[in-house]
Amino acid sequence: MRKLAVVGAQWGDEGKGKVVNYFSENFEWIVRFSGGANAGHTIFVEDKKYVNHLLPSINPRSCSKGFLGAGMVIDVEQLIDELETLEADFPGISSRFYLDPEAFIVLPWHKEEDLFIEEMRKVPIGTTGKGIGPSYTDKVSREGLKLYVLFDESLLKERLEALYHMKRMKYNRDFTLSFGEMTTYLNGLKTKLERLSVNFTSAVDMFRVFRSTSILFEGAQGVLLDLDFGTYPFVTSGACMAHGVSSVGFSTFELDNVYGVLKAYTTRVGSGPFPTEEFSEVGNLVRERGKEYGATTGRARRVGWLDLPALRYARIRSGLTGFVITKGDVLNGLDEVKVCVAYDVEGAVKEMPSTSYDFFKARPIYETVSGWPSTDHINFLKYMTFIERETGVEIDYISYGPRTEEMKTRNDLIMNI
Ligand code: IMP
Repeated sequence: MRKLAVVGAQWGDEGKGKVVNYFSENFEWIVRFSGGANAGHTIFVEDKKYVNHLLPSINPRSCSKGFLGAGMVIDVEQLIDELETLEADFPGISSRFYLDPEAFIVLPWHKEEDLFIEEMRKVPIGTTGKGIGPSYTDKVSREGLKLYVLFDESLLKERLEALYHMKRMKYNRDFTLSFGEMTTYLNGLKTKLERLSVNFTSAVDMFRVFRSTSILFEGAQGVLLDLDFGTYPFVTSGACMAHGVSSVGFSTFELDNVYGVLKAYTTRVGSGPFPTEEFSEVGNLVRERGKEYGATTGRARRVGWLDLPALRYARIRSGLTGFVITKGDVLNGLDEVKVCVAYDVEGAVKEMPSTSYDFFKARPIYETVSGWPSTDHINFLKYMTFIERETGVEIDYISYGPRTEEMKTRNDLIMNI
C-alpha cells in the first residue's frame, strides 16, 4: 500500500497543509511525525478555513484517520481546542484521531521557558513561543513527560514533581503555575480528552495496520529548519525531513515518494540566514499578495526569491523524489522574476552549500527570467522546467490557490497552454 511523505523543501510555510489535504482523500492514514504547535497547517473545507497546529490535515469529509506520532511534542490544551473546533462542524471526528502515548507533552512551563530563554539569548532565534525547544530539551535530558503519564496518577505526580524541582533549580525562579496547579491542570485536560474519545495507540500496536494500509506522512516546518541539517542554530528542535518517519516505525526506504513542497519564491520567519531575502518594494508586494504572515504567530514573514542551491541541498538531505510547487500565482504580473542559481561563498562559486554553515556566508548569484500573467502561461511552465533542470527533481503538481481543489498536475498545465 502506498506510503508518501510530504515535507517542506524550504524554511516552512510552503503550503504543506493544503497539499496534504489534497492528497489525503487517497490515503487511509495521515500521520504527523514531528514538531508541535509551532506548525500552522491551513486547510479549507468548502468555504471554511481551519488552521491546525497539531492535528494531521485529514479531510474531514473523507474517512481518513490521523495519527500523532511519538516524535511530536504535544500541547494538550491546544490539541483539545483544535478537536473541539472540528467537532463543532464534524461531530464524532475526534474518534478518527490516534495519539501515540510515547509522544511528549508541552507544558505551560515550557512555553514560559521558551519566552524567557529567548530574552536571555544574545541573538534570539525568533521562536514561535510554543514551548517547542524547551520540551524537546527536556526529552533529550530525560526530564520530559510522555503522554502516558496522564493515565497514571502517581507517575504523573512523581514526574511532574521531579521536573518542577529541576526547573526551579536550573533557573532559580518560580513559574506561573506551581507543581500542584499543574497537576490539576493536566488532570482537567485528561478528562476533556476522554470525553472527546480520541484514541491512544502506539506505533507498535499499529504495526500491522500501518503495513497494510496507505499512509501519508505530513512533515512540519521545512528541511532548512531541521534540527540536524537546517541553518543551525536558527532551526526548530524537531525533525523536518522524511527521516522523521522513523519515530512511527518506518524507514525512508519504505516510502514510495517523498514530495518536497516548494513555494515559487522563498519565505522565512524568525532569525537566521536567508541568502535571497528581498528588501525592496517587490518583497513587500509579494508579502502582501501572498498573505505572508505566520499562521501560528501572525508575524510578518521575510520574503525573497527562489533559491536553487537551497533546494538542491533540501533534495539531497531529504531524498526528495518530486516537488509540488505552490503560490506561483502570487508572482503573476511581475515583468521579471529573479532566481538564485548559485552562491558565492567567500569567493568560491558553489551550486550547493556543503554544510549548513555555508548558508551564513552565501551571497546569491542571480539569473533573471520572464514573468507570467497567470500560472497557465508558457512562461510559468518555463520557470518550472528551469527549476526541474537545475534541481534534477520533477515538479509533479502545481497549487494555484489556497483551496484544496486548486491543484493541477504538470500534464494539466501542459494541456492548458
Ligand atoms: P520554534 O520551533 O518555535 O522553536 O522556532 C524555531 C524557528 O523555527 C523560528 O525561526 C520559527 O520562526 C521557525 N518555525 C517554527 N515552526 C515554523 C513553521 O511551522 N513555519 C515556519 N517557521 C517555523
